[in-house]
This record gives sequence, C-alpha cells and structure tokens, in this order.
Amino acid sequence: MKTSISSPPSSSLHVLLLLLLLLAISLPSIQCDDLVEQICKKTPFYDLCISTLRSNSNSTNSDVKGLASVMADILLANATDTLNYIRAQINQTSDPQMERALAYCAELYIPVVKYNLPQAIDALSKGQFAFASDGISDAAREADACEKNFSGSLKSPLSDRNKLLHSLSDVAVAIVKVLQKG
Ligand SMILES: *[C@@H]1O[C@H](CO)[C@@H](O)[C@H](O)[C@H]1NC(C)=O
Ligand SMILES: *[C@@H]1O[C@H](CO)[C@@H](O)[C@H](O)[C@H]1NC(C)=O
Ligand SMILES: *[C@@H]1O[C@H](CO)[C@@H](O)[C@H](O)[C@H]1NC(C)=O
Ligand SMILES: *[C@@H]1O[C@H](CO)[C@@H](O)[C@H](O)[C@H]1NC(C)=O
Repeated sequence: MKTSISSPPSSSLHVLLLLLLLLAISLPSIQCDDLVEQICKKTPFYDLCISTLRSNSNSTNSDVKGLASVMADILLANATDTLNYIRAQINQTSDPQMERALAYCAELYIPVVKYNLPQAIDALSKGQFAFASDGISDAAREADACEKNFSGSLKSPLSDRNKLLHSLSDVAVAIVKVLQKG
C-alpha cells in the first residue's frame, strides 16, 4: 500500500489496476469470511468460533444454518472423541475412585453422543431450531456434571475437554439463536 503512495503517477495506476484485480479474485472469499466473522461476533467465544469454522471446508460459502450445522458436527466429533478418551482412561486406571468418576462421565457422555447431538443436528436441518438448541445445550450441561464429579484429591483428567465442549456448545447455541431470530 505504501509503495503506491510514494510511486510516480504512471506506476501508481499499474498498482491500482493490480489491486483491483486482486480484489476481484479474492472477493468471493472475503464475502464468505464476512459472514463467519459477523456470526462469530454474536457468540461468546469469538476466537474459538472463527478457528473452528475456518478449519472446516464446509463453512465455505455456507449460510447461517450451514455454519450452525458445521459447529454442531464439530461438537459431536469432540464429544465422541472425549467419550473414547474416557473409555481408554477407564481401562488404564487402577484407582477405583477415579474409575467410578470416569464411568459416571461415560454415562453422561453416551446419551449426548448417541441421541442428544445427532437428534439436534437432524432438527437443525429441518429448521426445528428450539429443539436443536436444547439438544446442543445438553452437551454443555453433561460436560459440567462430569467435571463436577471430580473433587478434592481426585483431579479431573478431563478438564480441558469438558471446558472445550462447554464452549463449543455455547457457540453453537448462539449461532442457532441467530437463526431463531430469523
Ligand atoms: C474439537 O474442537 C476443536 C476446536 O474447534 C478442534 O480443533 C478439534 O479438531 C475438535 N476435535 C475433534 C475430534 O473433532
Ligand atoms: C461436510 O458435510 C458433509 C455432509 O454433511 C459431511 O459428510 C462431511 O464429512 C463434511 N466435511 C467436513 C470436512 O466436515
Ligand atoms: C480395554 O482393555 C481391554 C482389555 O485389555 C481391551 O480389549 C479393550 O479394547 C480396551 N478398550 C479401550 C476403549 O481401550
Ligand atoms: C459423582 O456422581 C455420583 C453418581 O451420581 C455421586 O454419587 C457422587 O456423589 C458424585 N461425586 C461428586 C464429588 O460429585
């Protein structure tokens, strides 16, 4: 940008034409990013929202409903991954107290992974936004209940995962709220 200001007029014109050309080429992606940014500003975790949506190719040229679906899909992938992690931890621990708490978490995560989130994703595609929002917030609630089951000397091996789950759920609910407002 600075070079175009300090350059002689004839080359300024070339720079201007080049900039216009670059703008024309990048315009579609700029517009797409605008929607992602616009939507993410309406969520409680802007940075997480941006990085999550931009990491998934399905966000490109998506409308708001599409972005909500991408977020819900990633939330389900995260919950599934966490459930598998819990199962692996159960296998590895020899502490009965730890095993109990982990088993309790698995019990909380199983319905989220099997029913609540898949049903919410289905509802989202049918435009049943209130139902979708309920199912998505169940994920945050169960992650909290899981985390709270660890206390005192029993340190949660799931804190980061539960926290991320909660944040992703909050972001997804916020995007669905945009849809509900029409
Ligand atoms: C969980 O969400 C985070 C944040 O978007 C993402 O980086 C990660 O890949 C997700 N994990 C899975 C297993 O989908
Ligand atoms: C994009 O969406 C399709 C259809 O829902 C899905 O099968 C695919 O896995 C998604 N791609 C990514 C990168 O998540
Ligand atoms: C748990 O351990 C058993 C026996 O070693 C093994 O068969 C099973 O696949 C393991 N499960 C997980 C989730 O790691
Ligand atoms: C963990 O959950 C079990 C089963 O509901 C409950 O009995 C126990 O009191 C909980 N522990 C903590 C520390 O919340």
